[in-house]
This record gives sequence, structure tokens and C-alpha cells, in this order.
Amino acid sequence: MADFREFYPLRRHNTFGFDVRARLAVSVRSEKDLVEALDDPRAQGLPVVVLGGGSNVVLSGDLDALVLLIEIPGYHVTESAGTDGSVHVTAGAGENWHGLVGRTIADGLPGLENLALIPGTVGAAPIQNIGAYGVELCERLASVRAYDRQTRTFVELDAAQCAFGYRDSVFKHAGRDRYIITAVTLCLPRPWQPALGYTELARELEGLDQPDAARIRDAVVAIRSRKLPDPAVIGNAGSFFKNPIVDATQRDALVAANPSLVSYRQSDGRYKLAAGWLIDQCGFKGVSDGPVGVYAKQALVLVHHGGGSARDLLALAHRIADTVQERFGVRIEPEPVII
Ligand code: EPU
Repeated sequence: MADFREFYPLRRHNTFGFDVRARLAVSVRSEKDLVEALDDPRAQGLPVVVLGGGSNVVLSGDLDALVLLIEIPGYHVTESAGTDGSVHVTAGAGENWHGLVGRTIADGLPGLENLALIPGTVGAAPIQNIGAYGVELCERLASVRAYDRQTRTFVELDAAQCAFGYRDSVFKHAGRDRYIITAVTLCLPRPWQPALGYTELARELEGLDQPDAARIRDAVVAIRSRKLPDPAVIGNAGSFFKNPIVDATQRDALVAANPSLVSYRQSDGRYKLAAGWLIDQCGFKGVSDGPVGVYAKQALVLVHHGGGSARDLLALAHRIADTVQERFGVRIEPEPVII
């Protein structure tokens, strides 16, 4: 029998620290625990919600659901697993992502350093295809192991099956209610090549001749700590909005009207616009709206000071998105998963 807890408080299980409860919650430490919980008669008919660290979710109210708190551990290295000599590292979905980055570097396995200090668990990383400082998870991912609720079997999905995009994957769409991620296998290419193309990172490392992975990790940690609030101190989900992607014609028109607009050309010829810049230009940076607000050092980050609810946060998010749309004609979309 699964060890269910009823009306379980989730305040410590969601990054915004909203005071919501789960009808049933259970801590899942193995694949066996997972199947047991799903098959339990008390869970039948209830929707299932999966929470890792809750670092990228907005819980919009009490959940009349079975909440699976994924805490599956694991760390396993397979040397020369790829035909190209790459090293594969498999980690349990419940492992802390930043802890995994540190452990691989300590084990002499570089490749994840640009993704240091991203909050959350290993199992959450593929859902939004975490990315930062010039590297996206999908470039380092061999496969995802998941329980398929449709076929009631464990499956391995390769990177193509995960359908990764910018902050996007199958796990945000068709696979959202279908797959429960239990482990992730990363592919660390050999020989290792540092990814120093991101201007801000290169600037942070200026003067260092051939920085190693630990140095790059430290630089990423320094940059992130300067501009992103620590979720342990103030409720936030990192970037609250995705950077919108527009075609070249629309981007050129926007630049003509706003010469300081920040945009990045994509490989398909379209442009990604810096949502932080758009929001900042609308005057929202540092603005507070009761218990919620926009972080003073980064307009892309919404924060919860305490005592508020998802309703407050989403009202502010809508106001920001509507203002950006009115002023620039571009719709910005939330990045976290809203449950
Ligand atoms: N900007 C402003 N005002 C602001 C914020 C940003 O003018 O208040 C401008 C900056 O000056 C810069 C540009 O907008 O020229 C882009 O800002 P930044 O370099 O801070 O990066 P970002 O686009 O805001 C993205 C990711 C981050 C990731 C960094 C580094 C998204 C939505 N965000 O941020 O990811 O760490 O690049 O790669 O793609 C996250 O997903 O939670 C996250 C933090």
C-alpha cells in the first residue's frame, strides 16, 4: 500500500511558496513506489500531478489530485557509451540538477557547466528543455526514462522523441499526462569543448586562458547569483516569460521604431526578442502589486513576497503581457507550467 498523505501542504514543494494543499500526496523514491501509488485503489479516478522540486510550476489552487513527489535517487556513469566516445551519465529524476552538475565536474566529466545553478530536479529538466549561457539540455541528452501511463510500461525516449524546442518538449504537450519521468541519461561529448559563445559568459571569464569546466561553472554561478533571486529566499520561477520569436519583417519594423530593441537571429532566419527588455521598456521592472511583483534586477522574473496566491501572480502576468502586446504588438507567453 502506498504511503499516502491527505490534504498535504505543498508550500515547500512549489517555488512561489503558495499555500495550497494536495488531496493525496506520496513521496516516490523508486519506480516500484510509482507503480504502487498509481495502482492504489484510493488514487483511482483522481488526476495525477507530478512535482519534482516544484521549481517551474505555478500551483493555482488546492489540487484535488494525487500528487507524486518524485524523489528517485541515482547516479551512474557509463564510460565511452557513445560510438563517438561520449560519456553517458544516468541520474534519477529526483536528484537536484545543480548537484548533478557539480558531481559530474568533480568526477572529471565536463559538459554541463553552462547549466549550473538552474533550480529544480533532474526529472524536471527535460520538460522545459532547460537552457542557459549558450547550451540547452537537448544538446546533452541521450534519453529519458519514463512510465507511460497509456501502456502502463516503462519506456526510453530518445532526444527526437522528446520533441525538444526552445523551453519546450513533448512533456509539455501530448506527453504531459502520459509520461512520468523517472531517470535521465545525459551524453557528455568527448573531446570536451567549452561553450563560451555567450557574450556575458565570455566577459566574465576574460583574462583566463583556457578555463576548465569548474571555472566556467563558477562564472555561470556568479552571473546567475547577481541577476536572479534565490528561490530559497524569495519565491520565483526564474524567467516567467519565454522570449518571443517573430519573423524578420516584424523584427525589422520593431527595430526601426525602437533602435535599442534586443533581438537574436535564429538559425531559421526568425528572431528571438528579449522579453526582459520589452517588459522593462513598459516600466514594470521593480514594480510591486501587493504580495507579488517584478524583480528589480531582471524584468523577466516575477516574484512572490509571501501571503499571496497564484491569482495575484497571474493577474500581474496578464497585465504585463497585455501591456507588452499593446505597445509592441508581440504576445509574450508564460514559461512555467501552470497547474
Ligand atoms: N534586459 C533588459 N531589462 C531587463 C532584463 C533584460 O533590458 O530587465 C535585456 C538585457 O540587457 C539583455 C537582454 O534583455 O540585453 C537579455 O537579457 P538576459 O541576458 O538577462 O537574458 P534573458 O533573455 O533574460 C535568458 C533565459 C534565462 C537564461 C539566460 C542566459 C529565457 C526566457 N530566459 O534570459 O533562463 O539564464 O538567457 O542564457 O530564455 C529561465 O529560463 O528561467 C532563465 C533564467
